[in-house]
Amino acid sequence: MKPLIVANWKMNPATLAEAKALFDSVGRGVKTIKNSDIVICPPFVYLSELLATKPKLPKLGSQDCFWEEAGPFTGEISPKMLKNLGVEYVILGHSERRRWFGETEEMINKKIKAALAAGLKVIACISDAKDVRHLASNILKKRNLVVAFEPSSAISGGGPFRPCPVEEAKKMRQSLAFYPFVLYGGSVNSENARDYIERAGFQGLLIGQASLNSKEFIEIVKAIC
Ligand code: PGA
Repeated sequence: MKPLIVANWKMNPATLAEAKALFDSVGRGVKTIKNSDIVICPPFVYLSELLATKPKLPKLGSQDCFWEEAGPFTGEISPKMLKNLGVEYVILGHSERRRWFGETEEMINKKIKAALAAGLKVIACISDAKDVRHLASNILKKRNLVVAFEPSSAISGGGPFRPCPVEEAKKMRQSLAFYPFVLYGGSVNSENARDYIERAGFQGLLIGQASLNSKEFIEIVKAIC
């Protein structure tokens, strides 16, 4: 299977013009890359404009969604809305959503189930092995679900990179051996990206800060392809 490289732009950039420029620049840089799948997850407000960009490369994902299909849920976006828009992936359970928005395992499981039922591909984030135990076991067997291991201590938060030692990441990957496809996330950059794939044994990467710099992001993609 091809490696999966996911860009999590978080709450960036500030304007649509910047979002388009970043998306176009990444698209041009990875145009010839055939042996990996690349997904950009921008803020909700930029999704439709970026989806209208042709050719549709890279693919697009959302950073969250709600579990209900429609109704009185002010501020929320349903999985069905995303699917109808043409979005392919959704990141769920990110540690920042758990921390800032109080998302619990129960809420995350409901979101995962609803997103899969709507036909979205789910990137389910976990910070350690206990989070996997909380993911409902029936969910783990779904084909369209990819687990992303992101130790909270390694997430850059937009500040200096603080990557998880490769040996530690490798141990975590081994503890998830029953799961065939796992991404690593947390302070990934063009220097360390290849190590998480080749030495630690992950099948792809979830990239925050470094994905906001197209040159750096393209270098990461090239480093592992
Ligand atoms: P980072 O973020 O690459 O900036 O550490 C990763 C993430 O939070 O998904």
